[in-house]
Amino acid sequence: MKTLQTTSLKPFHTFGIEVDAKQIIEAHSAADFMSIWRDHADEPKLILGEGSNLLFCQSYDGIVVLNRLKGISVEETSTAWRLHVAGGENWHELVRWTIEQNMPGLENLALIPGLVGSAPIQNIGAYGVELNEYCEYVDVLMLDTGDISRMTAEECEFGYRDSVFKGRLKNKAVIVAVGLLLPKVWVPMIGYGALSDLAHQSDLTALDVFTKVCEIRNEKLPNPTIVGNAGSFFKNPVVAKSLADSLEAQNDKMPRFMVSDNQVKLAAGWLIDQCGLKGFRVGGAAVHDKQALVLTNLEGASADDVVALAKHVVDTVQAKFGVELEHEVRFMGATDETTLEAVCQH
Ligand code: FAD
Ligand code: EPU
Repeated sequence: MKTLQTTSLKPFHTFGIEVDAKQIIEAHSAADFMSIWRDHADEPKLILGEGSNLLFCQSYDGIVVLNRLKGISVEETSTAWRLHVAGGENWHELVRWTIEQNMPGLENLALIPGLVGSAPIQNIGAYGVELNEYCEYVDVLMLDTGDISRMTAEECEFGYRDSVFKGRLKNKAVIVAVGLLLPKVWVPMIGYGALSDLAHQSDLTALDVFTKVCEIRNEKLPNPTIVGNAGSFFKNPVVAKSLADSLEAQNDKMPRFMVSDNQVKLAAGWLIDQCGLKGFRVGGAAVHDKQALVLTNLEGASADDVVALAKHVVDTVQAKFGVELEHEVRFMGATDETTLEAVCQH
């Protein structure tokens, strides 16, 4: 365990906003987490990975605990590689390492920022693949008892950008390790948009897919070490088929994906783009000019700038399309998680 000298959260979240915590402590073991929870029983506490899915709406009036649990082990069976990965390992470095070791499977999920222990929380997904397809189990440290228990993927209740860790287990459990199962029979997943070009390539390898995914992402998404952001700010909304049909009647190029017989997922980035909001600014915050679903800290943005920009985007899309956008980015208030709606009411 290590208490940092600094209380600035700016280097510890990818939006790069000037906010502080009361104290920032690194946890290097499950025992560290338990001591912190015991020693600071009456203080608010926030577990932080790389802060790539968070907006601090104001300074945090409590203890921020940085996950520093490390270690990877691999078991090879006749049909698969089974990886046990500590929660504090970096996700993209893990993906890169598996590809280098000729253990394909995770290539579509390359370049997603953040830690392995955070990946199950919103069931990270990209280019037609979601974590749950490779996740065998999640080990959690229960903060009330100190017990570590193993949850099957089914028990994690994975959904689109969702899991039990955003619901029933929120603030109750630390994800200390994730078990991944990578089958030896590799099936490339290249059905998604720009990846479909790869279908023409003979002798396609997981490294080719990995390289292509990195290329597309580097083109569209701002690098958070240069321009602050937290990836897609909003989820892609799931709407009634009847609404999707009437919107499509006005614009036959509208991207849409069937979710069930009467539900359709729309592309929030397309909706925002159609409102002409690419590049739109409030103070130092801006809608990214290459991907309208990403809000950026272009130039010394305050949290208020980002909140005002997010509100403007939600209101504009609602007025034009009658579609309600829900933020994917987790909003943190002074002591607890909050929402755009709640922040705007103050
Ligand atoms: P943090 O932001 O630090 O934490 C997220 C939440 O989880 C917080 O509420 C935190 O308290 C909680 N938490 C963190 N660790 C633990 C733990 N061990 N136990 C319990 N609770 C914990 N996401 C995608 O799904 N697909 C993408 O393609 C994608 N692209 C992105 C691109 C960019 C440029 C950026 C900046 C983000 C992107 N994201 C994407 C979002 C983000 O990378 C993921 O949500 C990632 O899993 C967050 O990891 P983190 O370690 O930064 O989590
Ligand atoms: N589009 C536009 N204009 C824009 C942005 C998008 O017209 O400004 C259109 C695209 O042309 C495409 C559609 O909208 O037809 C979807 O765009 P894209 O393929 O870029 O994906 P997305 O739906 O915007 C989602 C995830 C990303 C993930 C990508 C790739 C969500 C909320 N976002 O974005 O995840 O990387 O697909 O799979 O589901 C994240 O969660 O932080 C994230 C970056």
